Amino acid sequence: MAPRIFITRRVFDDAVRYLEAHAEVVGNPTDRVLAPAELKDAAAESDGLLALLTDRVDSELLAACPRLKVVANFAVGYNNIDLDAAAARGVLITNTPGVLTETTADFAWALLMAAARRVAEADRFVRDGKFRAWGPRMLLGHDVHGKTLGLIGMGRIGRSVARRAAGFGMRILYHDVSEVGPDAAADLNARWAPMEEVLAEADFVSVHVPLLPATRHLLDDAAFARMKPHCIVINTSRGPVVDERALVRALGEGRIAGAGLDVYEREPDIEPGLTELENVVLAPHIASASHETRLRMCMMAAENLVAGLEGRRPPNLVNPDAWDATRP
Ligand code: DGY
Repeated sequence: MAPRIFITRRVFDDAVRYLEAHAEVVGNPTDRVLAPAELKDAAAESDGLLALLTDRVDSELLAACPRLKVVANFAVGYNNIDLDAAAARGVLITNTPGVLTETTADFAWALLMAAARRVAEADRFVRDGKFRAWGPRMLLGHDVHGKTLGLIGMGRIGRSVARRAAGFGMRILYHDVSEVGPDAAADLNARWAPMEEVLAEADFVSVHVPLLPATRHLLDDAAFARMKPHCIVINTSRGPVVDERALVRALGEGRIAGAGLDVYEREPDIEPGLTELENVVLAPHIASASHETRLRMCMMAAENLVAGLEGRRPPNLVNPDAWDATRP
């Protein structure tokens, strides 16, 4: 009997066709995020799940899907999945690393440039009919070239963001739990520094860490207090890495100059106060949302799913222990 796959949202036809060649495929016809009870019902008889970061894959869902062997997450991050619960049931979990690195780095820069040069605010200004004449002090922003970029997290995406800074002649300081090798540091023209130093020295702070207990509220009141008053904060990683209440306070009180956010603590809810601030650029979690990259992510998730269902080790397995445990 062909395995059954449930796809939790409307995805890409190429990926669906690929899955259909290997399995019986059922999709969420509504293309909205299913409530936990709906997801449990819809996925109950599935052997594989193509899940999104908006789906909570927890012990309850896994218990409701006794046949489930593989959950392929359509994202590089997988903080929506309870890995311990998956391990306890021998469910393989996969993600989509690498394919979204450059696109996400592009978007971190889009936010940085937009926040520094007040692009979103300028757009609102023009649309509101306020552009009456060129003005010497109108919508003044901050230069990007020649400034110091502070990167928190120097994994794949952090490095790609760093590479783009070369064109702007920027100095790069970064903080991560481990240092990049000397060749990479020289190549990127980046220097490791303690977190406090990065925060204090940077004109732009961009965050590129996964959401872990240790990174939750990494940028809090104390972190904002260390930053320069003209510092601009960019977050394309996960919302809870930034304490949004502290961010609203820091922005509102002028302790930092601006922010560019693609992710939120209680997504899709936005922290009260954020939308009232002119000095923030807000995007709806679209850093990886280019035609090319989202299709690649989807195909990668589909390939991971089929591999796991066919008994092959999925190329992007994030819980090898579950794989080892399911081997004879
Ligand atoms: C991810 O992949 O984790 C992003 O947040 C969405 O592309």
